[in-house]
Amino acid sequence: MSEKSERLYEEIKRCDREIAQLLKTRMHCIEEITEYRRDHGLPILTPEPERRAPEALDVEDSPFGQEILRVFQEIHESGKRVQAKTLFDHNIFLIGFMGAGKSTISAALSRQLSLELIEMDAYIQEKEGMTISRIFDIHGEEYFRSCESDTLAELGKKDHALVSCGGGVPMREKNVEIMKKNGYVVLLSASPEAIYERVKDNTDRPLLNGHMNVSYIEELMEKRRPKYEHAADLIVDTTGKEVQEICEELLRKLCALQSERERK
Ligand code: S3P
Repeated sequence: MSEKSERLYEEIKRCDREIAQLLKTRMHCIEEITEYRRDHGLPILTPEPERRAPEALDVEDSPFGQEILRVFQEIHESGKRVQAKTLFDHNIFLIGFMGAGKSTISAALSRQLSLELIEMDAYIQEKEGMTISRIFDIHGEEYFRSCESDTLAELGKKDHALVSCGGGVPMREKNVEIMKKNGYVVLLSASPEAIYERVKDNTDRPLLNGHMNVSYIEELMEKRRPKYEHAADLIVDTTGKEVQEICEELLRKLCALQSERERK
């Protein structure tokens, strides 16, 4: 190797070491901010305006500006993952009745904490190559319930994943055992009226087709309540609340539960 290229390779190695050190410092700062916000009752999730704007990096005039911005996008994502790891140590399973907000809340949380999201119904539909309604029609409910149990068993090895479960998942004790072993089980609840408003125009839920009214929803919810509550490590009521408010409440309760368990 020529003397010049040797010198440049050394310089690159030095840059990498410096970048790695700076990233460590950056991640420690995120960890500290997250702990501070958590311990002082401040909103845990980073508000959008506080996210650094690209202009602040001062790379617009650089021929490498685009590459640098791309690297920073990944740095921001890794920062969100540091936040998640600071806040809790395991997977999260969201359970609750149809329309309780599982899909909406899991999408918001996974985006803000860069968590791997597994939407169980979508996962099963993809694997089976047909909609949930069609699985019920062709194979029957028991078959669908076995698909749910198989999916949960497959997901057992994940770490810091967010699983949005179908509404019937906690009905089987075996499913509850798998969830409890592999993470925190969070129950989203809502009033029958709120549920009805959220699901009334949807025809993808075979259990509600032909029974789309508040009293049927209430009756089925009551039937399921003991199993939902038995499965839940914590409960968040979503009735009349904004998505961000629900995410914050969920994280706060999760942190409290985790520190309570650590104390034991
Ligand atoms: C079901 C809930 C649905 C879906 C299926 C059965 C249930 O999921 O899995 O229609 O038994 O409660 P969502 O809760 O996501 O609607």
